[in-house]
Amino acid sequence: MFDFKYYTPTKVVFGRNTELQVANLIREFGGKKVLIHYGGGSVVRTGLLKRVTDTLDAAGISYVTLGGAVPNPHLGLVYEGIELCKKEGVDFLLAVGGGSAIDSAKAIGYGVTNEGDVWDFYDYKRKATACLPLGVILTIAATGSEMSDSSVITKEEGLVKRGYSSDYCRPKFAIMNPELTMTLPDYQTACGCTDIMMHTMERYFTNGGNMELTDALAEGLLRTVKENAEILVKDPKNYDARAEVMWAGSLAHNGLTGCGNDGGDWMTHKLEHELGGLYDVAHGAGLAAIWGSWARYVMNDCLPRFKRYAIQVMGVKDEGTDEEIALKGIEATEAFYRRINMPTNLRELGVNATEEDLVLMAHKCAVGVNGGMGSAKFLREEDMLAIYRAAK
Ligand code: NZQ
Ligand code: ZN
Repeated sequence: MFDFKYYTPTKVVFGRNTELQVANLIREFGGKKVLIHYGGGSVVRTGLLKRVTDTLDAAGISYVTLGGAVPNPHLGLVYEGIELCKKEGVDFLLAVGGGSAIDSAKAIGYGVTNEGDVWDFYDYKRKATACLPLGVILTIAATGSEMSDSSVITKEEGLVKRGYSSDYCRPKFAIMNPELTMTLPDYQTACGCTDIMMHTMERYFTNGGNMELTDALAEGLLRTVKENAEILVKDPKNYDARAEVMWAGSLAHNGLTGCGNDGGDWMTHKLEHELGGLYDVAHGAGLAAIWGSWARYVMNDCLPRFKRYAIQVMGVKDEGTDEEIALKGIEATEAFYRRINMPTNLRELGVNATEEDLVLMAHKCAVGVNGGMGSAKFLREEDMLAIYRAAK
């Protein structure tokens, strides 16, 4: 078992109608002038934004709004948000939406409180020393950004998608009402479930130390999301299934399922970020499309974990060689993706990649990880290209 730090400063307020507590929470954390940041308009259509602004109006909290954070959120809007906050004297950010609105808000928070170009942090040139305080009203269970230390931004020029992590951006509070996720398109619900599972799997498939409690939590979380994702395909308004998935989303990416491990593998995410940057695909679907090819490529270098996963999570019988069991676990995962209408390769993702595209993505991915990365198996540029080719 490795030493670890576990830091989760986010106050979680979970359940029906909890969004109505937003004014009190902003006050509790000292917000006086708020930027409400949201996405492409779902929160306007569902009436959530109006409920939030009514609540702030009634409490006498002043605010400005900025919508338009797209999936794979853009740097251009981040710059716009920074200018707006400086002009309006904003001292608190409220993201209402999913990972894209939250991540965009985190980047705005860095930009307001640090000198210079905020992209420097995403370009690994400098480290942030502060972030504006941030609260979240979550509308999709997926990224875990509502409790995580990370944010992922796409620079339009060159379509470069990069993540930056620091404890400064961890939200002060996260309001999670599972009912708010019931308006999601089925595809986005499934993308979210995939992302949640993948955040746990990235931490699980390692060659580092292990902690039995962490592994058991991870396996329980994976089984829970798998079962409830299948319920939601048939019964999207099922509150309990929505709630299980929503809470799992936060626990999957707040560090809990990595305690005592070696920090995780994270290469499926890195490979997907290139897909998201180049083709603007939904993050969860991109992960599903690449995972099987990654898993087959690295399996023999991490066999005990793949075997354990197959048995504990996918319910594969402990019969045959370790390799056979591990492979059955991968096949069962792909069958599960198909049942929730997720892709298992680039074609099914709707991406018709040329060989040049694959070479470009492998190169950008390798540059993004300083040449190589991975714990299940350390991957270099040629390995990344082989995985992209296998996923085609
Ligand atoms: O933009 P709007 O109109 O709100 O529509 C969104 C968007 O089209 C829609 N949506 C969200 N909640 C809804 C809803 N539609 C109807 N009803 C609702 N209740 O769903 C679509 C996806 O939203 P988005 O915020 O993009 O999804 P997600 O939460 O999956 O975020 C994806 C982004 O987060 C990054 C991803 O790379 C991607 O850029 N990630 C962030 C992480 C982090 N900060 O910790 C970790 C992740 O691994 C991930 O990389
Ligand atoms: Zn993710």
